[in-house]
Amino acid sequence: MDLAGIINGYLRRVPAWPLYMVAALWGGWLFWLAATGQLGVEPINRLEREYGELGLKFLVLSLTVTPLRKWTGVNLIRFRRAIGLICFFYIVAHFGVWTLLDVRSLDRVWADILKRPYVTVGMSAFALLIPLAITSNNLSVRRLGAQTWRKLHRLAYPTAILAVIHYLWLVKGFQIAPFVYLAIVLGLLAARIRWNRRLAAA
Ligand code: HEM
Repeated sequence: MDLAGIINGYLRRVPAWPLYMVAALWGGWLFWLAATGQLGVEPINRLEREYGELGLKFLVLSLTVTPLRKWTGVNLIRFRRAIGLICFFYIVAHFGVWTLLDVRSLDRVWADILKRPYVTVGMSAFALLIPLAITSNNLSVRRLGAQTWRKLHRLAYPTAILAVIHYLWLVKGFQIAPFVYLAIVLGLLAARIRWNRRLAAA
């Protein structure tokens, strides 16, 4: 058996629920650090950023599941739903910290969403994540049909692009991290387009 087969054999025995637990504990731990003043001089802003970056990491990770299988044979498909939902929960936390602890005024929340372009773009990415999260269950796959469901979940690509634009727009001065995310997302998107073209030509 090849290495990918051995890894897949081990992975088949690992349930998805520990992933949810670790993500929840990590999110809670960050919150506790912020609440007890152990997250630097601006704990609310830092917490907001930590959740945002975690959400983006899981979003990108969810997009790498298929390419990883195609390129290496390692199959993480059993964990894809958990990865996607964890992304969503971190972004809900990101949005929650921003609205409830940072801005703390409904008028300003609306004003920022409408007037600050990086917030508008972040909000658009969040809006696209909602149908993906709502349909991340077997019942939705059955109701929509596998093909429609797959089409709907391609929304993850524009979501990731909007999320990276959000990041690029909000950083002050030059920072390498958002460009690294941009390169990864564009690379994954290009690979997806190439596969689809090959499939159409076959
Ligand atoms: C898919 C959705 C989203 C993703 C992936 C995302 C990701 C991120 C990332 C990576 C950062 C920077 C973290 C860092 O500096 O290390 C960030 C910051 C931020 N995001 Fe988001 N975000 C999303 C949605 C939103 C939404 C819906 C809002 C509010 C409406 C928002 C508001 C902010 C704010 C205010 C900051 C911090 C700006 C500052 O430090 O002044 N984001 N986000």
